[in-house]
Amino acid sequence: MAILNPQAEELNRIIKTHSPTVYELLSKKGKAIYFPKKGILAQGQAAKDKEINATIGTACEDNGTPMVLNSVARHIDLPTKDIFPYAPSEGLKPLRDKWKQLIMGKNPSLGTKEFSLPVVTCGVTHALSMVGYMFADETDEIIMADLYWENYDLVFTRAYGAELKFFNFFKNQRFDIDSFRKTVNAKPTGKKIVLLNFPNNPSGYTPTKEAAKDIIAALTDAAEAGNKLAVILDDSYFGLDFEDGIFAESFFSQIAHTHENLLAIKLDGITKEEFAWGFRVGFVTYGTKGGGTELYKALEDKTAGAVRGNISNAPNISQSLLLNAIQSETHAKEKERNKAVLKERYLKVKETLKNHKEYDKYFEALPFNSGYFMCVALKNVDTDKVWDILLKKYSTGVICYSEKNLLRIAFSSTPLQKIEALFHNIYSACKDCVV
Ligand SMILES: Cc1ncc(COP(=O)(O)O)c(C=O)c1O
Repeated sequence: MAILNPQAEELNRIIKTHSPTVYELLSKKGKAIYFPKKGILAQGQAAKDKEINATIGTACEDNGTPMVLNSVARHIDLPTKDIFPYAPSEGLKPLRDKWKQLIMGKNPSLGTKEFSLPVVTCGVTHALSMVGYMFADETDEIIMADLYWENYDLVFTRAYGAELKFFNFFKNQRFDIDSFRKTVNAKPTGKKIVLLNFPNNPSGYTPTKEAAKDIIAALTDAAEAGNKLAVILDDSYFGLDFEDGIFAESFFSQIAHTHENLLAIKLDGITKEEFAWGFRVGFVTYGTKGGGTELYKALEDKTAGAVRGNISNAPNISQSLLLNAIQSETHAKEKERNKAVLKERYLKVKETLKNHKEYDKYFEALPFNSGYFMCVALKNVDTDKVWDILLKKYSTGVICYSEKNLLRIAFSSTPLQKIEALFHNIYSACKDCVV
């Protein structure tokens, strides 16, 4: 790699001074990246209110407003200045402030403890990729549950060369804490990257409060033993908790302030939380015990630099629409309504499985209590064959995980009145498979 730019060196110095752990956790790319202080964007920002601004590469009318096409602009009910110009690489400041406020509101145990401002990314996938950029080297392993969102493989292994290392997710229908503890405490002691995704894709599982305590204790013990851990929290499905007794806050609320050797990295987005899948807005937020403004600003600058070098910036239109939406009076009620619809479907799945004990012969559900999905583990039938029969004979599509003998069912996208038929079709396809 080329020699470090002095601006990267300065950020590294700040990070090392305030947290040797975070410095050690940075990848080679993470150490090399910086947000150019005197780059085009920064110079454009400096000239923003000047009488003559001949800096940035956008087109303006003579009166300074963005030069746009009305055939585009007329579809959007917001001022063109909030839609057409570039957004900053780190995201719109009012949106970052508001999202931080929302994180605090949704995670009361954060209290008034410090953590970074969220940096805006182009969806959670891009947030994952930027965290890979910042922290994952080819020699690193990313510890995660053996049931995981398939795209982690492309993001971490194919793009950054890191290896996925799995702990066993469930044992006797519970979170397998022994496997988790063993994996995060494995020798050699040193840098470790852990990824937790709750509510989980594909299982729809969120730990109970008890299991959450055990998970946090296992991470704290690993930190105490001298490991330095970057704990990535993929909170894509945050807020969709359907049972009492589960840990409904983000693990960020605990891990961000537990131990100096733990860096919590919260990834979330409007994709599922705000029911806006195609808008492509995600966030990366950092927290570590003893972290303060200077450390967080350095991490934000590096992350913004990685965004700048990757996609330059996330869509202004999506950020502006979201900012307006979350300030609207009806927003909270609208979210409650959508969550209630999903919860009703979740309860219907539970009821259907309870009412049909005959299904046990061919499949049983993995633990689920939240999110969009649930999984059934098939017994003594060929998963690919069941999947194929479901499509061809029963006009039913589900996701098949052949190597695990699982089917993933998105109850989030299945109308309530079709849920019973969906499970009956799976049962019938299994029966067809054995004749
Ligand atoms: C666990 C998990 N993480 C991340 C993502 C990606 O989210 P986005 O669409 O915001 O990139 C998904 C989407 O399916 C997901 O299930």
